[in-house]
Formats: sequence, C-alpha cells, structure tokens
Amino acid sequence: MLRTREERSRIPRERPDGTRYYRPMDAFSDPQAVERYAAGPPRLVPGFADLHRMATILLSTHVPEDARLLVLGAGGGLELKAFAQAHPGWTFDGVDPSAEMLRLAERMLGDLASRARLHEGYIHDAPEGPFDGACSLLTLHFIEKEERLRTLQQVRRRLKPGAPFVAAHFSVSREERTYWFDRYVDFAVSSGIAEEQARRGRAAIEANVPILSPEEDEELLYAAGFSDVRLFYAAFTFRGWVARA
Ligand SMILES: C[S@@+](CC[C@H](N)C(=O)[O-])C[C@H]1O[C@@H](n2cnc3c(N)ncnc32)[C@H](O)[C@@H]1O
Repeated sequence: MLRTREERSRIPRERPDGTRYYRPMDAFSDPQAVERYAAGPPRLVPGFADLHRMATILLSTHVPEDARLLVLGAGGGLELKAFAQAHPGWTFDGVDPSAEMLRLAERMLGDLASRARLHEGYIHDAPEGPFDGACSLLTLHFIEKEERLRTLQQVRRRLKPGAPFVAAHFSVSREERTYWFDRYVDFAVSSGIAEEQARRGRAAIEANVPILSPEEDEELLYAAGFSDVRLFYAAFTFRGWVARA
C-alpha cells in the first residue's frame, strides 16, 4: 500500500538489536508533538525571542520595507509571526516538508497568514524568487552535509545579489560537544523541563542529528556561494550567522 510522506515518517524504525525508535524529525509529523511544538524552543534555545529580534534586525538592515522573504523550515510559524508583526510590508514564502508544522504555522499566524504563502516540501519546491532575503532557523542541522550544501546553493540561487541570509541551528565541534550538550540539558532543566526528559532529548539529538562544527557550517556557506559570513549568535550548542548572496 502506498503511504503519504507523513504516514511513512510516523512508522517506528528498528535498530539491529530489535529496539524501536523514532527519528527526531518524526516529531514534526506527529500531531500531538506538533501541538506542543511552540512551547519547546523558548525553553530549549537560549535567547530564543532575541534570536528572532536579531534575525529581524539583520534582515531589515539589508531589505526594503516591501521585502519578499524566503523562510526555509517555516513550520510552526514562530519566526514568520515575529517578522510579520515587526514589518507590516514584508511578505513571505515559507517552505517545510511537514504538513502538520505548516498547519501550525497557519494557526500561529492567524490574521497575518494572508502575507505568507506556505509550500509543503523542500527547497526545490520553493518559488524561484528572486527574494530580497532569506532565513532558516533551527532547521539546517537536520540536513546531512552534502545535501545541506545543495540546499544552501538553492537558497542562494533564489536570492537577489547581496541579499541577506540568516541561519541559526545546532553547531558545535566534536571536542566541545559533551561540554555544551551538558549545558543544553542544564538550560532545559532551568526552564522547567524534567531532567530525565531533557537527557532523553539530548541523547536523541546527539545520536540522530547531523550536527557540524561552526567551522564546517561557515565553510558550507562560503562553498554555496555566500560571502561576508558573520557570526551573530552563539548560545551553548547553537550558532547563528548572517551572510550575503
Ligand atoms: C525545529 S523546527 C524549526 C521550525 C521554525 N523554523 C522554528 O524556529 O520554530 C525544524 C523544522 O524544519 C523542517 N525541516 C526539516 N528538514 C527540512 C528541509 N530539508 N527543508 C526544509 N525544512 C525542513 C521540519 O519539518 C520542522 O518544521
């Protein structure tokens, strides 16, 4: 029987020892997990609200008031909402493979939803643009290195020359991983998450998310054709950059 992408991603995978697991990405197609999604990042990502403010400022430094922006990994709608509220003239194309997360984005945007076109899929499913700017928050870490490079190239191709691109995600070197993921757990616990749950989350991320080092992330941005790559955000396990197409 043919299954939709959503149905396929809800099937548990089996390890060689017979135990079952769900990939972290599966959370984005589980309706109950998605329902709880919006409460997660502010408790897990240090400075999450200010990350949105910084991304808004970095984009607005280089784009006009009637900018057309591309948001990769737009599911949930949190940054779309922050951008739309801050700049009434901006319009958006948001891309995300999770239909559930896009539905949440629509609910999150409410009256602002008319300014965002949401596309279920990957970067190839995004309109050609050209866009005045682009953003990808807490998303690129899910993409394997080679595919990440192709994705970044496709983002750049859709941008006007010199347009800003803002990205932030897990980025930590192998040597420092244990130290900073210990702090990730500490931060979650200090936000009120049970320690056992925080530890399970950390283990799933470390086992399944293809995290690169900050140096590799920067190299990929340059390799994709971006220039002026600048670090603007460093928070325990997370890093963020602004670059120009
Ligand atoms: C942690 S959520 C972040 C959502 C939102 N950007 C935020 O900051 O709240 C990661 C999102 O990336 C999406 N995603 C995963 N792989 C993707 C890909 N290759 N291209 C675009 N989005 C992807 C997931 O479906 C999910 O909605």
